[in-house]
Amino acid sequence: MSDKLNFSSRPRRNRKNPAVRGLIRETVLQTEDLIYPLFLHSDDSDVALESMPDCHRWSLRGLVEEVGRARDVGVNSVVLFPAIPEELKTSKAEECYNPDGLVPAAIRVIKEEYPDISVITDVALDPYNSDGHDGVVEVDSKGELHVVNDETVSILCKQALCHAEAGADIVAPSDMMDGRIAEIRRSLDLGNFETVSIMSYAAKYASAYYGPFRGALDSAPKAGDKKTYQMDPANHREAVREAKLDEAEGADILMVKPAGPYLDIISKIRAESDLPLAAYQVSGEYLMIKSASKDGWIDESKVAMESLIGIKRAGADMILTYFAKKIAGML
Ligand code: PBG
Repeated sequence: MSDKLNFSSRPRRNRKNPAVRGLIRETVLQTEDLIYPLFLHSDDSDVALESMPDCHRWSLRGLVEEVGRARDVGVNSVVLFPAIPEELKTSKAEECYNPDGLVPAAIRVIKEEYPDISVITDVALDPYNSDGHDGVVEVDSKGELHVVNDETVSILCKQALCHAEAGADIVAPSDMMDGRIAEIRRSLDLGNFETVSIMSYAAKYASAYYGPFRGALDSAPKAGDKKTYQMDPANHREAVREAKLDEAEGADILMVKPAGPYLDIISKIRAESDLPLAAYQVSGEYLMIKSASKDGWIDESKVAMESLIGIKRAGADMILTYFAKKIAGML
């Protein structure tokens, strides 16, 4: 009696060597898929972030140099996050549409040096707001805090317009106010910026994974939480509803955030919309891989790569990740 059994199906045939595995590979990560989030401040020095290893708060000069290094390995898109000094923060976040502010200055210097880099900006009030919320805060007679929707949307429109005027290719509203995509689209069109795209944070969850980011920018809410505008992690039908609304309002690209713990949401929105889909591997996801690999418990590069392949396999066309430069260098 031989050990040879008579299977009709032997899937291992398709894995027998690297060339065959290459032929049957279903998901490919390319440098073009990566968007590199960068923190900046108005100081002249570049400061390494303790809460996010290998990330910095860049000076304008340092920012342009880092964009250049990322571009050298094939990263073509960056998204900017400003740290604003406490004295410029106000309850109505006026600094967010200052044409001479930090973000417009950063867009201009990047575009001057690298016109081919696509510059994406975050549209939300939290870095500029003395309350640390993504919108304008009102406190009622009972002392309860409310993030006011429509007044916030009007400010977001000014912010988006200010970024467009400075040369942004894509504005990315991350605030989760209702109706903001339609209003921002209208403002951009009225300002003759019909070619500026909107990447909408369509399904953005109220996530504890944003912790290191808020530390990096000193942008944590001073009181309360973000649960009246960011979504409940327990929900998935609501994510589809948000995505459909943003599509109908004129979004060019939808986004799911965070990414790794929300792969089901990515796959669901992929199935329900034909728009390009982005996913944001957020600061907490990054830090978990970074800290687990610090003492060699896991292999940082391999786990980072696998995490991004997983996000793409779930249905994302592009990924915002703090690993962008590193992974692009490996591809
Ligand atoms: C703020 C914003 C946040 C992130 C991107 N834009 C934080 C928040 O909503 O509190 C998080 C990114 C990250 O954690 O990497 N509008």
